[in-house]
Amino acid sequence: MEYRHVSVLRDEAVSMLNCAPGKTIVDCTVGGAGHSALILENILPDGILVGIDQDVKAIDAARQVLEPCSENVYLVHDNFVNLPLVLARIGIDAADGILADLGLSLFQIRTSGRGFSFEGDEPLDMRMNTNNPVTAASIVNESDEAELEAIFSEYGEERWARRIAAEIIRRRGDTAISRTKDLVDIVMSSIPKRAIATSRIHPATRVFMALRIAVNRELEVLGEFIDRAVDYLLPGGRLCIISFHSLEDRIVKHRFRDLAETCKCSKDLPVCVCTHEPKIRVVSRKPVRASEEEVEANPMSRSAVMRVAEKLGLQGQHREGGE
Ligand SMILES: C[S@@+](CC[C@H](N)C(=O)[O-])C[C@H]1O[C@@H](n2cnc3c(N)ncnc32)[C@H](O)[C@@H]1O
Repeated sequence: MEYRHVSVLRDEAVSMLNCAPGKTIVDCTVGGAGHSALILENILPDGILVGIDQDVKAIDAARQVLEPCSENVYLVHDNFVNLPLVLARIGIDAADGILADLGLSLFQIRTSGRGFSFEGDEPLDMRMNTNNPVTAASIVNESDEAELEAIFSEYGEERWARRIAAEIIRRRGDTAISRTKDLVDIVMSSIPKRAIATSRIHPATRVFMALRIAVNRELEVLGEFIDRAVDYLLPGGRLCIISFHSLEDRIVKHRFRDLAETCKCSKDLPVCVCTHEPKIRVVSRKPVRASEEEVEANPMSRSAVMRVAEKLGLQGQHREGGE
């Protein structure tokens, strides 16, 4: 099965990671190794790249692409929230740079056959890691109405969440909902015709996104991952996160802000009395976005937002040489 993906903000991410020969960089979402290949070019001959992905097909694809440099590469099939364990198993204490390019690859959407897309008709699976027990079908068929409504409204910001949840409960009475086409039909029949006619996106977009986020626990692991990644960076090391929707970006932005905070005192106190030390400085005051040329060449890059943080030293000092 051919693995296809067009990397987003590739040059920008690799440049922000301050890659240089001899460095250790962790690509937490190795995918088709688009970012990783360029990282490797910049850290060879003696640098180390660790590539993590929770989709075993991505690990297989990355292994092929990175084969010529296999002595400098470790590829690990795991969730990036397990970063400390992954690094411990390899024997790495800390890294110079960590990258997470969130979301799905083109391969997962178009060719994996796991029902990530509302186009076509595939099993309702949506697992990035097919070893995990929870699928989109199990959520759709086993959650109660309130749970379904919460998933669609919280993760998909879907206006018609209540109606869609109610229609799922009504339809699944006789036979289980098992195909993407069934779910698209349910969404189309739950939303008022007027709303369908005026929608700028496919009416099932938000429901599919919400289910995918729930199946893969995408938002639940992100905040924890950021804390762990910062702990495993060397002073001066950088964490780059590329996200593709506002809920993810909000988590990154808020987590970075908390970790960069210099004082935890109550606002009522006239002077700072805490001994709190910030862990990072935020390098990207404004998030980095794809250029017009990149968006034209790859429309998927339109929603990409990259934020970058730099690990501070023990006394809150960052290494000279950054922006
Ligand atoms: C946008 S693609 C990455 C593409 C890659 N940067 C490239 O240039 O080819 C996102 C990848 O991250 C993986 N992924 C998403 N969430 C993950 C997680 N929590 N842990 C590990 N991998 C994850 C997905 O399986 C997918 O392969």
